[in-house]
Amino acid sequence: QSVAVLGAPFSRGQKRRGVEHGPKVIRDAGLIDRLSDLDYSVHDFGDLSFHYLEKDEPYMDVKFPRTVGAANKMLSGAVSRAIGAGHTLIMLGGDHSLAIGSVSGHAQQCPDLCVIWVDAHADVNTPMTSPSGNLHGQPVAFMLKELQDKMPDVPGFSWTKPFLSSKDLVYIGLRDVDPGEHHILKNLGIQYFTMRDIDRLGIQRVMEVTLDHLLARQQRPIHLSFDIDAFDPSLAPATGTPVNGGLTYREGIYITEEIHNTGLLSAMDLVEVNPILGANREAVEATASLAVDVIASSLGQTREGAHGSISVFF
Ligand code: ARG
Ligand code: MN
Ligand code: MN
Ligand code: MN
Repeated sequence: QSVAVLGAPFSRGQKRRGVEHGPKVIRDAGLIDRLSDLDYSVHDFGDLSFHYLEKDEPYMDVKFPRTVGAANKMLSGAVSRAIGAGHTLIMLGGDHSLAIGSVSGHAQQCPDLCVIWVDAHADVNTPMTSPSGNLHGQPVAFMLKELQDKMPDVPGFSWTKPFLSSKDLVYIGLRDVDPGEHHILKNLGIQYFTMRDIDRLGIQRVMEVTLDHLLARQQRPIHLSFDIDAFDPSLAPATGTPVNGGLTYREGIYITEEIHNTGLLSAMDLVEVNPILGANREAVEATASLAVDVIASSLGQTREGAHGSISVFF
């Protein structure tokens, strides 16, 4: 079992500085040791180096389209190679626009993949519906086949074509959905669980329906795209677009434990950790250490404990 860790220090999908330091603070919180302790052979591929184009005028209202497009093209190739080499891929962001490259690179190797998107936000705005023009609020729109004719030709993105069916996507944790996004979710019949749904059903039932929706017909690779702002801001304060009323620690870890238990996790993103936005060092360390817990749990760290081949007593 081998895991590839790939840093993507990139922030042009949104306006706030600092999210490009996410990979560093997540590594500093002990990620590599924690994964090695789980008995993986860990291949740290280091950080990609992205180029921020000097001349990159907005397209419609979309900010830094060519810079974000080029970064995602590079990331997509790197993810595709790592998965092709047989690794389970961990992408450390950076902002959530990076999911365009990460999921598309994964899909190149695993065309039948499904996506679990854990986030306060749906990130499915098109350039026309986006209230902000920030591409971290739009990555899912670049993936969905059903939105193909709603998407303009954004400069920088000619390398990618929509590859995901809306039935192969489930959201968990939503609580800040824009009007255009709500229209898309309803219109395409996307399966989603808001925080209200978690309040009503409980996280156990939410995961049961999620996995049943995606896996009942066939076992297939899972891409987990985890935005740290899915958690309540009291747990993950160092992030760019916090929204009150998020996941508890136990809900978040239950989600990742259940995903690990499928045995089908093939790649994951951990995005939107922004150390500059923590009020102090404790806030930043709490957020980064939560990110490490989410990744370790997705890869099989359990709360019940485990034993390998130890036979001390029997
Ligand atoms: N919905 C808002 C927008 O389109 C916020 C998106 C926040 N996305 C994120 N990945 N944190 O700008
Ligand atoms: Mn978010
Ligand atoms: Mn997001
Ligand atoms: Mn395992």
